[in-house]
Amino acid sequence: MNLILFGPPGAGKGTQSALLIERLNIQQISTGDLFRAAIKNKTELGTKAKEFLDAGKLVPDSITNGLVEEILRKLNGKRFVLDGFPRNVDQAAALEKLLETLHLKIDKTLFLEVPMELLLNRLAGRRVCKNCGTTYHVQAKPPHNAGVCDVCDGEVLQRPDDKEEVIRTRLEAYDKSTRPLKDYYKAAGQFIEIDGTGSTDAVFERMTKAMQVKC
Ligand code: AP5
Ligand code: MG
Ligand code: ZN
Repeated sequence: MNLILFGPPGAGKGTQSALLIERLNIQQISTGDLFRAAIKNKTELGTKAKEFLDAGKLVPDSITNGLVEEILRKLNGKRFVLDGFPRNVDQAAALEKLLETLHLKIDKTLFLEVPMELLLNRLAGRRVCKNCGTTYHVQAKPPHNAGVCDVCDGEVLQRPDDKEEVIRTRLEAYDKSTRPLKDYYKAAGQFIEIDGTGSTDAVFERMTKAMQVKC
């Protein structure tokens, strides 16, 4: 099963992808994570992407589409979930062409809907392990020892783009560029809207039920 998982910043795409990887044995392709890794490693891609991530703006399609193509070409038959890509209608059209070239197909497109007031709380309260990337939330899922990762003892920090002023820009970019994808994928078929509120497990159960898979 190949999936697209999209939705507003903070909707739980990364959290739900982690569960999908664990239980369905598929590969997550998160453009946000790939950009952050490139920034951390100070690669050429990271240098190009940094100013956009810091500002909460979308990285230009010319950079992002190429990155996704590179990953999809190396999959060797492994099933995947796209988290955070495509993020606008042009990226969706580019993806469609690329999938055709690579003889790949998306089975379901899942859209996670979460109301604005919950998004703000989820983003402002998110903390991430600097070392292994495990995601926490100060209220919903705090690490056992404050500031220390349960998995690897790494330092747990706030993402630089989770500051209030950057969150605002990210939400604007979502409304302007990504929300219109709902209509695009509704028209394309295999589109499922999932209520992203409630516990992480409740959301996951809704997702797998809607996809008609057993985990
Ligand atoms: P990206 O990393 O994709 O960020 P985003 O879309 O803003 O989404 P987030 O990662 O913030 O949220 P999420 O939905 O993964 O939520 P999470 O599971 O962490 O992109 C970052 C930047 O990269 C962009 O701004 C852009 O610059 C660039 N970029 C990326 N892709 C691009 C593209 N295609 N084109 C151009 N530019 C691109 O959950 C959030 C918090 O909520 C966590 O603390 C979590 O613990 C908590 N939580 C999750 N689920 C629940 C629940 N059910 N109940 C309570 N708390 C919950
Ligand atoms: Mg994410
Ligand atoms: Zn860790």
